[in-house]
Amino acid sequence: ITQQKPQQSLAGKQIVITAGPTQEAIDPVRYISNHSSGKMGYALANAALAMGAEVTLVSGPVNLSAPCSANLIKVESAQQMHAAVMAEIENADIFIGCAAVADYRPSDVQNQKIKKNNQELTLTFIKNPDILADVAKQQQSVFTVGFAAETQDVSRYAKEKLARKQLDMIAANDVSNSSIGFNSDQNALTVFWKEGEKSLEVADKRQLAFELMQLVSEHYRNKHA
Ligand code: CTP
Ligand code: CA
Repeated sequence: ITQQKPQQSLAGKQIVITAGPTQEAIDPVRYISNHSSGKMGYALANAALAMGAEVTLVSGPVNLSAPCSANLIKVESAQQMHAAVMAEIENADIFIGCAAVADYRPSDVQNQKIKKNNQELTLTFIKNPDILADVAKQQQSVFTVGFAAETQDVSRYAKEKLARKQLDMIAANDVSNSSIGFNSDQNALTVFWKEGEKSLEVADKRQLAFELMQLVSEHYRNKHA
């Protein structure tokens, strides 16, 4: 019996990964966004490729170069990211939602630049579609992996998200510690699934990405055994 090399354990699998922040337009010259660097999502794309997968990387605006063997789809807003993922997901085996998707967007995008006429400015926001939840609901054969960025009660909120969004796995990180997580080269994750959990200790995001993809690959194969 020839043992499958762990590095190639995702050979032929189609993986869709979201990465980076989204930008939500306010007017022609302004947007709201967040501090996501995209590093974790890009590292996951690299790890998945190294394990033999075919990767579609749906990315918000970041300052990173994408692995050239990935199918890169660049988007700006959450709505664009949602549309791009839904168009790509049908043939996918695994979806990893690593993007910091803006939860809300301005309800009305102004056609002209907003002038500073008043002392106060009030913007009204409306909820964006939840890409990860929609994938889990609409494509039940796809193995879905979420991230949970929390500043408190990390494991409780992460487990809640795993159940509420009906995910196969969720990787939680504590973003109250600014030396890891958002916009940092290092991260630490606690990964939860229905029957268990595993802590991945502080490490370079590239190293952590390999450890997480290894876990994803094991659990994916259990589900499809
Ligand atoms: N996510 C998504 N689409 C959204 C919001 C979040 O796909 N509109 C995904 C993220 O990529 C991540 C997971 O959902 O994988 C959890 O994101 P997070 O912001 O931690 O959770 P929310 O469900 O948005 O809840 P909250 O921000 O209130 O904690
Ligand atoms: Ca959110």
